[in-house]
Amino acid sequence: MLQAVNVRKSYQSLEVLKGINLTIEKSEIVSIVGSSGAGKSTLLHILGTLDNPDSGEVLFDGASVSSLGRNDLARFRSRHIGFIFQFHNLLPEFTALENVCLPAYLAGRSEKEVRVRARELLGMMNLEHRAEHKPSEMSGGEQQRVSVARALINSPEIIFADEPSGNLDTKNAQELHQIFFQLRNELDQTFVIVTHNDQLAEMADRKIVMRDGFVVEE
Ligand SMILES: Nc1ncnc2c1ncn2[C@@H]1O[C@H](COP(=O)(O)OP(=O)(O)OP(=O)(O)O)[C@@H](O)[C@H]1O
Ligand SMILES: [Mg+2]
Repeated sequence: MLQAVNVRKSYQSLEVLKGINLTIEKSEIVSIVGSSGAGKSTLLHILGTLDNPDSGEVLFDGASVSSLGRNDLARFRSRHIGFIFQFHNLLPEFTALENVCLPAYLAGRSEKEVRVRARELLGMMNLEHRAEHKPSEMSGGEQQRVSVARALINSPEIIFADEPSGNLDTKNAQELHQIFFQLRNELDQTFVIVTHNDQLAEMADRKIVMRDGFVVEE
């Protein structure tokens, strides 16, 4: 489904990615681990088309995304890719339901259909009773589950998560991890997850370790 071919990225004289090759298959949960500064977020942003490599390519279903212009790339991203970040990035002035709906409105989908799906997704996250709450009125675990529903609203082929449980206590982290596996089992959802959480890294179907600008599989 997703392929990185000889991806390189430097910041000034700092070579962060020195030629990354990897493949992600459909309905896999792949974890990416490595020490702080190893380049995990840099790689995730490039795989998720939020950033460009200096050289090399990212292919989705065999097609290169580097040739897409700004607008086509934004459209591609909103239809095919979901993101979950360490800090949920929910908009504070909107309710949970509205936050989940927003990426779908931006993709031009009809309001009625989107709201129905958003309520379903909040239900899957055990949050139907929190739909009208604003982020500040929810716990950290609840906020992060809203951001999972938001990542799912456009039925992306792949979801990239950067330390999604980094800000959660053990119980909420475990609950979130269970949701990832449930989504994989029920919806065939594909995940690439950067994590410092050993338990999650080990539970994944595959674990990719970043070291010295390269990846090794464990
Ligand atoms: N925009 C930037 N400009 C300059 N250097 C950068 C930039 N972004 C990242 N770096 C550097 O690139 C290296 C890799 O950063 P990256 O954020 O990918 O690491 P990481 O593996 O995600 O670390 P962490 O586990 O702490 O999140 C770091 O040394 C960082 O300082
Ligand atoms: Mg990082």
